[in-house]
Amino acid sequence: MTQSLLHRILDYANRPDPYPIYEELRRTPVHHEADGPYVISTYYEIRSLLHDPRMSSDARNLASHTSDPLAEPGSAEGGALPPGFLKLDPPEHDRLRRMANRPFGPPHSPRRVDGMRPELHDIVTGLIDGIGDPGGFDLVEQFSYPFPVTVICRLLGVPREDEARFHVWADTLAASLDPDPDADPAERGKDAHDARMELGMYLAGLIEERRKHPGEDMLSQLATAKGGDGAMSTMELLSTAALLLIAGHETTVNLITNGMLTLLRHPDVLGRLREDPRLAVPIVEELLRFEPPVQLVPQRTTLADIEIRGVTIPKGAPVWLVLASGNRDPQRFEDPDRFDPDRPDIQHLGLGSGVHSCFGAPLARLETQFALAELARRLENPRLVQDPPPYRQNAVLRGPRQLHITCDGIRA
Ligand code: HEM
Repeated sequence: MTQSLLHRILDYANRPDPYPIYEELRRTPVHHEADGPYVISTYYEIRSLLHDPRMSSDARNLASHTSDPLAEPGSAEGGALPPGFLKLDPPEHDRLRRMANRPFGPPHSPRRVDGMRPELHDIVTGLIDGIGDPGGFDLVEQFSYPFPVTVICRLLGVPREDEARFHVWADTLAASLDPDPDADPAERGKDAHDARMELGMYLAGLIEERRKHPGEDMLSQLATAKGGDGAMSTMELLSTAALLLIAGHETTVNLITNGMLTLLRHPDVLGRLREDPRLAVPIVEELLRFEPPVQLVPQRTTLADIEIRGVTIPKGAPVWLVLASGNRDPQRFEDPDRFDPDRPDIQHLGLGSGVHSCFGAPLARLETQFALAELARRLENPRLVQDPPPYRQNAVLRGPRQLHITCDGIRA
């Protein structure tokens, strides 16, 4: 039996190269299979829905959310964490995002991310120095994973000795974002629920501690803030902290790994980056277009009937926005399957757009620019051991599970 397009997107066998499926998908910009979500795959339609106030990110607005693989069981009954602002609509979303932004970005904290440069440099240097055998190592384990996870823990103020416990919870929650049709939703829901419970309890203790002894970290500032929006309730604080920890986890890991994989497949660009680290800026933008870590946004629903490209999406229907397909839409990008950091205009969808556009974008960009520039400079003649590498199961947060590299040495 031929598989439906939706199944082919989720089929693990297609993880190394989902782009031919997206090309097929774009022939029907609003694709709908019986009982399935409405799948949007073309650039302009995705962008318009990302900016449409009739679209909701709140799963409670789904007409039938009992079978939603992304619903968080127990989230309404207390105990587990309520959803963070990623899954809320305005005005609650805007209020919480504004409050979270106070200690993170302009206008109140314009130097927070930029001020992390020396720390980022030290972490990157320490990790590259620590690569044991340049003749064969896994970039994910030795570098792409520990780097952003350490950074987000430091930013929020998670003590170093607790970072390992945190990784386990974050991995489980990231896996629960994957709408895998073959996984048992009850089992996965339970794992995610347990992880949210444990993470919630851990963060509650940490917040309590920071209220008594505030430091310079973001959690202390969120816990003690009294801006124009008032203070966050303890539950709001918990879910915001959990959202930041998790959102800053798998995504940047995958961008760094996808980035190195792409550069090793394009040695000319890698060579140019080695000569000129400033090229890291357009390289990271082109990577967010060409190999985006968030392939699709599955948590949207319609608040009214919406007509798009001649199709009416009924109120309460689940909608998937396939960002990675929009990024390869030839109606928007010339020769979209070519990796070309010299493109004059790379306005990709890799960090979303509209009110939910990525909150951590300045940090994610800076981390990846630093990481790729330093890897290019320090690894001598790096080569891929296995191409394609083994991928993670997740079709939403897509990236290699391992990236084995061999090189002739590591420069000082
Ligand atoms: C390369 C790394 C990253 C990528 C590709 C990425 C991608 C995205 C995308 C596509 C969205 C939009 C989701 C939607 O429309 O529903 C988003 C939202 C978000 N991201 Fe990121 N992200 C990255 C790193 C980070 C980091 C490091 C943080 C935390 C510091 C972060 C925090 C968030 C938050 C809190 C939201 C929700 C924003 C809202 O709902 O207003 N992200 N991200």
